Amino acid sequence: MKVLVVGSGGREHALAWAISRSPALTELHAAPGNPGIAALAQCHPVRAEDAAPLASELRPDLVVVGPEAPLVAGLADELRARGIAVFGPSAAAARIEGSKAFAKDVMDAAGVPNARTLPIARPPCVVKFDGLAAGKGVWVCRTQAELDDALREVPEPFHIEELLEGPELSVFALAVGEDVIVLPPARDYKRVGDGDAGPNTGGMGSFSPLPDVRDDEAEEIAETVHRPVLRELAQRGTPFQGCLYAGLIRTDDGLRVIEFNCRFGDPETQSILPRLDGDLLAALAGERGGVSASSRAAVTVVLVGADYPARGDTGTPIDGVEAAEAAGAYVWHAGTALHDGQLVTNGGRILDVVATGDSVAEARAAAYDAAAHIDFAGMKFRRDIAGG
Ligand code: AMP
Ligand code: GLY
Repeated sequence: MKVLVVGSGGREHALAWAISRSPALTELHAAPGNPGIAALAQCHPVRAEDAAPLASELRPDLVVVGPEAPLVAGLADELRARGIAVFGPSAAAARIEGSKAFAKDVMDAAGVPNARTLPIARPPCVVKFDGLAAGKGVWVCRTQAELDDALREVPEPFHIEELLEGPELSVFALAVGEDVIVLPPARDYKRVGDGDAGPNTGGMGSFSPLPDVRDDEAEEIAETVHRPVLRELAQRGTPFQGCLYAGLIRTDDGLRVIEFNCRFGDPETQSILPRLDGDLLAALAGERGGVSASSRAAVTVVLVGADYPARGDTGTPIDGVEAAEAAGAYVWHAGTALHDGQLVTNGGRILDVVATGDSVAEARAAAYDAAAHIDFAGMKFRRDIAGG
């Protein structure tokens, strides 16, 4: 199979790595990819949003779309209209991520437990912008002062919902055709600082399996969360094809959905894919039994620039990637560029250091050992991924 991966971050590097292991793969392309992906695929200097004409030229057997923005903008529809198979939902189905109000309507119709909408703004509560906000559209308000700030900052339209308490988990279901393949749960770390201090980010790390949610519980979660939502979307005439991501909180009263995304999570994907046995490409192409979870553990530590998440970092030389790889970790590129052959920073999240092991503790130790080889001016990362 000839495959085109759309996107340029660590999630896409992880997808390219997993796809490149498939015996069915003949050619791998990326749009635009990044310097890390370039070791696995031919990268084309085309923005994700503009990938359709490139796909018409390349005629891949499958396009795998990483990020949400091109999906919400209709890239999968455009590809299908050109007769090209794609792993990723239509714009109509991607609204499950693009509009929180739509997601809530679908969940309520499908009987999926989620956070109650509150009629009046009073702490504790959560204020949510009703659109794509790259992780910056949610204000968790425990005090009146936090609520006042949130209401000043949130753009219209928004809604207010109950604040749920409990550990968070992410569960992905690959929905292709009639079949659903449920992946093992992972946890990501959204806040920038150790102990969940500071502002929200795109994600500072992840790990899987979880100490508090068994891998095989994902099947039960899919039965009460993913499958009802997929049935509801199909009934509405907008079937979802791709990775349906449920963000959940385990409250004292059971699991509640806090968000759906229409794509693989970043950086959870980086910790899930190295745990899978089997052929991911076959699974993405809709073959039954493509992948299953192994007992291996994986931990991802994200290396970010000095001013992240307020500002990205560009042009700072990066050292030690080969040494980290030689130490046994995967180093997946999240925001890098090449300047005259020198790898430099180019974004907010710069590199993902991913290690596997027989236990989370072993994988964690290996990830941090490998990360210690990498250096760039201002580099920072959380020290408490997968347990402090
Ligand atoms: P989202 O942009 O929907 O991923 O939300 C970002 C983060 O806000 C989540 O990872 C949670 O930590 C938090 N959050 C969202 N909704 C709720 C809620 N109803 N109760 C508590 N925390 C929430
Ligand atoms: N890890 C959070 C996300 O991908 O939205």
